[in-house]
Parts: sequence; C-alpha cells; structure tokens
Amino acid sequence: MKLKTKKSKAGISGNWRKEVERVLITEEQLARRVKILAGEIERDFRGRETVVVSLLSGTVMFLADLIRHLNLPLRLDFIGVSSYGAGTESGELVFTKELRLDVRGRDVLLVDDILDTGKTMSRVLPKLRALKPRRIKVCVLLDKPSHRVEKIRADYVGFAVPDFFVVGYGLDFAERYRNLPFVGILYPHIYKEACKIVCKK
Ligand code: IMP
Ligand code: MG
Repeated sequence: MKLKTKKSKAGISGNWRKEVERVLITEEQLARRVKILAGEIERDFRGRETVVVSLLSGTVMFLADLIRHLNLPLRLDFIGVSSYGAGTESGELVFTKELRLDVRGRDVLLVDDILDTGKTMSRVLPKLRALKPRRIKVCVLLDKPSHRVEKIRADYVGFAVPDFFVVGYGLDFAERYRNLPFVGILYPHIYKEACKIVCKK
C-alpha cells in the first residue's frame, strides 16, 4: 500500500511530542492494513498447517495483531536476530535465539517488522530453507525499497515507506520507542543525542 505522508502532530500524545517529529502511519491505518494483509495470507494458505516464524523483537505488535486475524491452524516460533551496530545503520548480525519448532514439509510464514537493506532476510532465509519447509512466504509490515542492497522481496507488505528511520508499533531506535502505538519519525537531535550515549558504550 502506497503511503500518503502528512505533516501532522495529531495523535502524538504530550509525552512524545518533544521526541517524535511526525506520525507517518496512524493507529487506524495500521489496524486497517493489518486486517487486509491477514485476509490475503489466509486466502493463500488455504487452511494449511502453518508455522509462523517471527523475528525478534520488532515484530511484537504487528505479529500480535496479524495472527489474531489469521483464521489458520498455526504454530508460532521466533528467531532472534540482532544487528550490533551503533545508531541507525545495521551492523554485524548475530543470532540470539534459534528456531525450535520443526518446519520440515510445512508452510512457513516468515514475519519481520521492516525490510530495509535486506541483509537480515538474506541471512535468515537460507537458514530456514535448509530445514526443508514446503514453502516460505515473507511478510513485512514495512518495506523501504530505496535502501535495498540484497535482492530480496517480500510476498506481503503492509506499507512501502520512504527512506526515513522509523520507530513505533514495535520498531525501535536503540531499543526505545517500541511502545508507540503509531509509526513515526524522530527529531534528528534525538538520534544525535542517543548516538552519543550508544556510541560511547
Ligand atoms: P535490513 O537487514 O537492513 O533489511 O533491516 C532489517 C532490520 O533492521 C529490521 O528488522 C529492523 O530491526 C531494523 N531496521 C531497519 N530499518 C529500520 C527503521 O527504519 N527503523 C527501525 N528499525 C529498522
Ligand atoms: Mg528486526
């Protein structure tokens, strides 16, 4: 879904006004789109036994909302993958939790918060394929195609977003802002201040 961005402060509660420059995707837009995505997935998966594999931790809100709309016999598991880079650039990828469920011969729905450079997916997908699932479909809430360096595409995309670093609805900056109910953009000074702390560590 193509996004109409608006320069509005509406919907940003008092606590966040000093940090969030603007809302990119409202709670209502998220709720509407996630329901539609779930409908598309449900139709494609046709009631088959599905393993939903979700990447920690940015998917937390998206996943919770998505699977509540998925009328499929599904099991849920997580892969932990962290990029240890400072600031908003992705650094070296480290697996912090491995998959536990057996996906051999199963339909897998791989869920992530945002497809950016594609480096995360290009590490996770071969690892999953090696476990011999029947098929893997990739679902992301957000897609930032302008930033891609790996040849990866998602089968289900919530919103295509412009080349901003976005936070909220599960997505973080330095592990913060995941609890914002909307997707927004921070003021540049927030990144700079946080980077002084993060980069010192
Ligand atoms: P990729 O490996 O560059 O595709 O990035 C994927 C991961 O980086 C996502 O799962 C996020 O955790 C993180 N990421 C990339 N872009 C953003 C962003 O704009 N905001 C928050 N996290 C991001
Ligand atoms: Mg992530």
